[in-house]
Amino acid sequence: MSFMVSHNLAISISSSSSTFLAPCSFNPRSQNVSLNAKRVGICKCVAAQEEVLTAYKTKVSRNANIAKLQAGYLFPEVARRRSAHLQKFPDAKVISLGIGDTTEPIPEVITSAMAKRSLALSTIEGYSGYGSEQGEKPLRRAIASALYKDIGLEEDEIFVSDGAKCDISRLQMMFGSNVTMAVQDPSYPAYVDSSVIMGQTGQYLKDAEKYGNIEYMRCSPENGFFPDLSSTSRTDIIFFCSPNNPTGATATREQLTQLVKFAKDNGSIIVYDSAYALYISDDKPRSIYEIPGAKEVAIETASFSKYAGFTGVRLGWTVVPKQLLFSDGFPVARDFNRIVCTSFNGASNISQAGALACLSPEGRKAMRDVIGFYKENSNIITETFETLGFKVYGGKNAPYVWVHFPGKSSWDVFAEILEKTHVVTTPGSGFGPGGEGFIRVSAFGHRENILEACRRFKQLYN
Ligand SMILES: Cc1ncc(COP(=O)(O)O)c(C=O)c1O
Repeated sequence: MSFMVSHNLAISISSSSSTFLAPCSFNPRSQNVSLNAKRVGICKCVAAQEEVLTAYKTKVSRNANIAKLQAGYLFPEVARRRSAHLQKFPDAKVISLGIGDTTEPIPEVITSAMAKRSLALSTIEGYSGYGSEQGEKPLRRAIASALYKDIGLEEDEIFVSDGAKCDISRLQMMFGSNVTMAVQDPSYPAYVDSSVIMGQTGQYLKDAEKYGNIEYMRCSPENGFFPDLSSTSRTDIIFFCSPNNPTGATATREQLTQLVKFAKDNGSIIVYDSAYALYISDDKPRSIYEIPGAKEVAIETASFSKYAGFTGVRLGWTVVPKQLLFSDGFPVARDFNRIVCTSFNGASNISQAGALACLSPEGRKAMRDVIGFYKENSNIITETFETLGFKVYGGKNAPYVWVHFPGKSSWDVFAEILEKTHVVTTPGSGFGPGGEGFIRVSAFGHRENILEACRRFKQLYN
């Protein structure tokens, strides 16, 4: 049964309808009467038949840019297929290595700081309401000093947020609809979808499986997952993610030096997504600002989601250096500040206390342990597929293993694995046409589930 609230329309209501917020009991057999709700001056809770809901249309036209989006956002679609599978096999022990959500508990050194801050909110001295939209100064300072130690960022160049995904959309809101953009292909879907929604793109081109007016920078085993910049068209904005979701590829210092030069030569802005930077255990850069000159061409966005299990707690940040200027000389950071102040009221004070604890020496050790655990999972998955004879990429500096099924459709492989092993993965083509023929296996999982999933993979492919 669905309910509809109406203030001032002549509406058809059941004689058993009740006032808004009061328990609403609908008796389908009771007689309907017509009543002008405005005249009686109360808000009515109305039991509506489905046809009535679909028959009435507002006069508001749908945002034509949103209408360009294809099917659902990738991860809800994966979740939908998982649910359908569970309906078909209600007793199956489904293991989810798809969506990329963290599974291990948040270390206590971090949750205890959040608990303390939370309890303090119940005291006169400890209570706080709205904080600064840009985040609390001690946290901004701690991010600058702990994570960008030799880079020399100032605290007011760090904008604390409720996560990197939210910041990607805020950045798009700042850029507006008249910019052009480039993305790695394959890439995290939020870049392309937010670009489509903002109106930066053309229509979806079914044959090419691409949106018009986006520069897709192909990243494949053939080019070492780094785009050929000599054949890449100039765009205003370049989204670049390293370590990459979904391929797990991590750019070298030489590659990032090329990227920064490319941006500078073209007068472009790089949006560098470093959400997995702390998974890097070799000498590859963890920040774009390790490359000389990057402050003049790059924004960086990051998050505690995958380091400390903050996917539900929500805490991220975006760096906008003072040296980064628009073509008229106006500082990008000032516009981003305006966007943040307009569309956001600051990250939760409890999450910020947790983030500060993440950056304490004990918190950093605890994050290293969590990351180390997921990286062991990556090794187990990588070894499993390699033993089975597959070509496997990523995994080393990232919690994602990118497995190649040459000549096969990603969705077919996804469906076969789900059907035969009850393991949810993610089809590579969901990240862009360059992901066709691959699946992404996430290393976020309890150890026994990772081992069990690998046992099933071996059964399927041996
Ligand atoms: C590359 C990348 N950026 C951003 C995010 C979103 O991070 P957050 O949880 O901080 O919004 C994800 C999450 O999976 C991601 O893979």
